Amino acid sequence: MTIRRVLRIGDPRLLKPALSVKEFGTQELRGLVEDMGETMAAEEGVGLAAVQIGVALRVVIFGFEGNSRYPDALPVPRTLLINPVIEPLTEEVEGDWEGCLSLPGMRGLVSRYTHIRYRGYSLEGDVLTREAVGFHARVVQHECDHLDGILYPQRVRDLKKFGYLEELVESGVMGAGGIGED
Ligand code: NI
Repeated sequence: MTIRRVLRIGDPRLLKPALSVKEFGTQELRGLVEDMGETMAAEEGVGLAAVQIGVALRVVIFGFEGNSRYPDALPVPRTLLINPVIEPLTEEVEGDWEGCLSLPGMRGLVSRYTHIRYRGYSLEGDVLTREAVGFHARVVQHECDHLDGILYPQRVRDLKKFGYLEELVESGVMGAGGIGED
């Protein structure tokens, strides 16, 4: 297992749609998922997409059980999703602060569906389907955006609600306790 370098905004590889995984259970895929897990843990992220380590495949991981950086967020089960698909189960959206390992130290206010169903495959190609609300739903939408080459600043509607975490908190634009990252 290797901790990989996380690409940062400005790298064009983050803006390209990723390709579907065609073959499951391979050593190559297993190695990728292991590296992603290692990298996410090292960065203390709550999610990571393969594109963020320069691999243009539709693979995401996310989840945590209590992360000191997000004290208010409910736990999200540790999950691997290959070729994920999201279906909104409501038209309701909610704005909250997001961060991303590809934009270290920054936050932006992003609207996301509050209730979704997602579906994807495991390493071995088994189907996983789950419903999610709140922060869990937000993380999945954020990660799946990476697979379409979308970074969260593209979803920030009001650029006054985007910037460096320290400045946003210091100026009072962002209340303490906003949730972050990826
Ligand atoms: Ni991200």
